[in-house]
Amino acid sequence: MKILVTGIAGFIGSHLAERLHKNGHKVVGLDNFSDYYDVKLKRENASKLIQLGIRLIERDLRVEHLVMALDTDIDYIFHCAAQPGIASKSTFENYLSNNVIATHNLADFSTQFLSLKMFINIGTSSIYGKDVFCDEEQMAKPISDYGVTKLAAEQLVMSQTRLGNFPACSLRLYSVYGSRERPDKMFSQLIDCGLNDKPFPLFEGSLAHKRSFTHIRDIIDGIVSVIGKENECNGQIINLGTDKEYTTEQGIEMVEKLLNTKIAITNKPARIGDQLRTKAIIDKASKLLNYEPVVELMEGVQEQIKNYRNKI
Ligand SMILES: NC(=O)c1ccc[n+]([C@@H]2O[C@H](COP(=O)([O-])OP(=O)(O)OC[C@H]3O[C@@H](n4cnc5c(N)ncnc54)[C@H](O)[C@@H]3O)[C@@H](O)[C@H]2O)c1
Repeated sequence: MKILVTGIAGFIGSHLAERLHKNGHKVVGLDNFSDYYDVKLKRENASKLIQLGIRLIERDLRVEHLVMALDTDIDYIFHCAAQPGIASKSTFENYLSNNVIATHNLADFSTQFLSLKMFINIGTSSIYGKDVFCDEEQMAKPISDYGVTKLAAEQLVMSQTRLGNFPACSLRLYSVYGSRERPDKMFSQLIDCGLNDKPFPLFEGSLAHKRSFTHIRDIIDGIVSVIGKENECNGQIINLGTDKEYTTEQGIEMVEKLLNTKIAITNKPARIGDQLRTKAIIDKASKLLNYEPVVELMEGVQEQIKNYRNKI
């Protein structure tokens, strides 16, 4: 199959491209190498993919004519490109353009892809709101610009299947961690701080926040399992994550134990839009996709530390 992965140079996109390539698909990737975090990391991800023979197109989805220059003989689209996270340095314009305008351009242009079997939107549990422990039927009540614009992006894609233009689904991911994790995310920061004797920025009130931290392998297993399940998945929104949850405090203790060190803390004001809890309910994924995450947090973090040390 010929598969387009947007956001291919990022954390999830690069892992997804590797897996699709390993599974024998022809992968074409697109990324604009946004400077949300160190572009060097994205260039490193990209060069590993190019070495595998994956074609990577440097293009910005916000620019309509650039999107329209894409190949149209694509079987599947996995749309990972986005302005992620809730960093205070990100402006509303960043979220609006990279999540809403970019997705609109891509979805609009994809109506010309005659062989398109499925457009898979990569969504997020941030769409649900402040305290998340629900199935996909729950009304979305996002509390951040990120969550609001990701909801809009998801609806732009899903409206195309309602219009009969192409089959589509959206996978709502829960707190993904693992090697090459974005540097702004919790385990990346904890490992970096623990190994390099730097203080970990702890946001006010976040010690008790709970997350379904899900290992990248378990997430990629779920994402690729959509291939061939177009009938079951068309029009569906599906949660992907582990149903086990841990607090930030437990995450800190785990990294300290694995590194055998005490991590210094620097207190920061609470982040606007930070969720109290995101616990995944995955009955639908397990029914439609036979989804069953298996990586235990301790095992996954241990591997992430090893890969961080070996720069993998
Ligand atoms: N990491 C998580 O825990 C998590 C959780 C839930 C959902 N998600 C979703 O997964 C997807 C990937 O997230 P990630 O953590 O890998 O982030 P990432 O920032 O590492 O990857 C996103 C990539 O998209 C690219 N991009 C951004 N705007 C673009 C544009 N206008 N045109 C072309 N490329 C563009 C960036 O350069 C980047 O390489 C996002 O849609 C995000 O909302 C991530």
